[in-house]
Amino acid sequence: MASSSCLNVAITQPCVSLSPSFSPNSKHPNQSLLPHSSFTPIHSSSLPLRSNQILSHPRSYKLPLPYAPNFHVVALAKVEPLKVMISGPPASGKGTQCELITKKYGLVHIPAGDLLRAEIASASENGKRAKEYMEKGELVPDEIVVMMVKERLLQPDSQEKGWLLDGYPRSSSQAAGLEDFGIHPDLFILLEVPEDILVERVVGRRLDPLTGKIYHLKYSPPENEEIASRLTQRFDDTEEKVKLRLHTHHQNVEAVLSKYKDITVKVNGNAPKENVFAQIDAALTQLLELRKENSGSLAA
Ligand code: AP5
Repeated sequence: MASSSCLNVAITQPCVSLSPSFSPNSKHPNQSLLPHSSFTPIHSSSLPLRSNQILSHPRSYKLPLPYAPNFHVVALAKVEPLKVMISGPPASGKGTQCELITKKYGLVHIPAGDLLRAEIASASENGKRAKEYMEKGELVPDEIVVMMVKERLLQPDSQEKGWLLDGYPRSSSQAAGLEDFGIHPDLFILLEVPEDILVERVVGRRLDPLTGKIYHLKYSPPENEEIASRLTQRFDDTEEKVKLRLHTHHQNVEAVLSKYKDITVKVNGNAPKENVFAQIDAALTQLLELRKENSGSLAA
């Protein structure tokens, strides 16, 4: 594709970098100093652009090459990483599905509940406050949760690999908290499970503190005695507390859903975990295919 007078422009999100392979015929003395800031990234795979061409797409860029009218630019776009939220009542299987999703799609798993439990374990002031609310099955106040989640989302690994946000947002103010920072998901997954099943799942849940793996005494028992002997139970995994957590979920779920109704996929979570994952996998595959098609049509 590249001709003799060619400049390779590698486009990565969020900024654009230039590789210094200029044509020996280039005349403009400042070509090697072309500013990054004069490019706005686009979603595209490989676009041949003439030097004076301006794409009409709203996320296109202008090429600042007034002295090199015959240049060809090859844009190598990297598909933007996925940004996914997973939600559902307590014990609906969010954590279990996140294990399977991250294994296949390589997203960074960000579980709001685990971030809070880490704060509690560190005995910080925020942790002490958070525990008071978690013991009552209530939402931890926004001033603790929003910044905590936002900071994790903006870490380089989440930005580079994409993220899977688990158990956030749980209220419209938390959703607005992310919007204020320009953080928008591609997909919102809602797991649906009948209430009597949820209580049974909570009471039987156990965690392996060594591997972080989630077990259930009946549905997903530990592989051997050694693991079984070290399993722990969460302080809020009692029948009494799960009822409070469920009440909080019902109070808030509609407000969150209305924020994301255009990108929501509802998944039947009352099925073996592999079958639940198959539904999620289908939605993610479809999303990725759609993106590929869109970037293809831009390139055409
Ligand atoms: P959090 O830790 O997020 O708890 P939760 O939302 O109640 O959800 P769980 O972690 O209990 O369940 P899960 O859906 O991940 O299910 P899992 O896969 O483990 O939050 C705890 C508290 O922190 C909240 O109450 C709140 O106080 C606070 N908090 C958290 N986020 C907040 C926020 N954004 N704002 C304010 N406060 C916040 O599965 C459960 C069990 O079922 C396991 O034993 C598993 O093996 C089993 N299981 C899973 N899938 C299946 C299946 N398909 N079939 C059979 N068994 C299954």
